[in-house]
Amino acid sequence: MLDEAIQRHLTPLLDRLTYLEEQIEGGERQGRNAIQLGLIRELVDGQRVVVEFSKDSFTPPIKWAAMACGETAFYRAPSVGEMALVLNWGDGERFTSSVAIVGIASTKYPLPSADPNKVIEKIGAHGWVEWNVETGELLVKAKRITFDAEEVHATHELSDGVRKISQDRGIYDGHDHNETQSVTKKPNQKQGA
Ligand SMILES: [Fe+2]
Repeated sequence: MLDEAIQRHLTPLLDRLTYLEEQIEGGERQGRNAIQLGLIRELVDGQRVVVEFSKDSFTPPIKWAAMACGETAFYRAPSVGEMALVLNWGDGERFTSSVAIVGIASTKYPLPSADPNKVIEKIGAHGWVEWNVETGELLVKAKRITFDAEEVHATHELSDGVRKISQDRGIYDGHDHNETQSVTKKPNQKQGA
């Protein structure tokens, strides 16, 4: 009799406990998958990545967070083996609603500098853009540079491996020729080296 009464009173509490257990378990599962660190396994269509957490655990192709993607946009495909933090805002375990945060330094891909006075973009093995914050000097390394612009203008001076353009103008302004009866000889003053 007493047992039955106790049981009757306990049943709703036990049901409530079961419900709470399920909630906690679901929350833990969601928490486990909400943020995970992995490595880029594959680039898909140049626009998405597959991130691997372990041998048998990886995302479907997902987007990565670029530095900017509005009217101003920045494209840089993550590298295979690059570290990626996957943020999963869905509650599923399939990572269909997730995005990869990339650009995290790792042993395979360390930061290109440890100098706070520099702002650097390293582009593969051949490209390099380096600002010196203190002096304002900009260093650009590239195989070839093409400007698709109406005009390329320097407010002051241009120079190359030979001399400054103002020095070239000085040579031109003062140059003369050995006169002949025929075709004018090549100038004594050379603009080339
Ligand atoms: Fe001349």
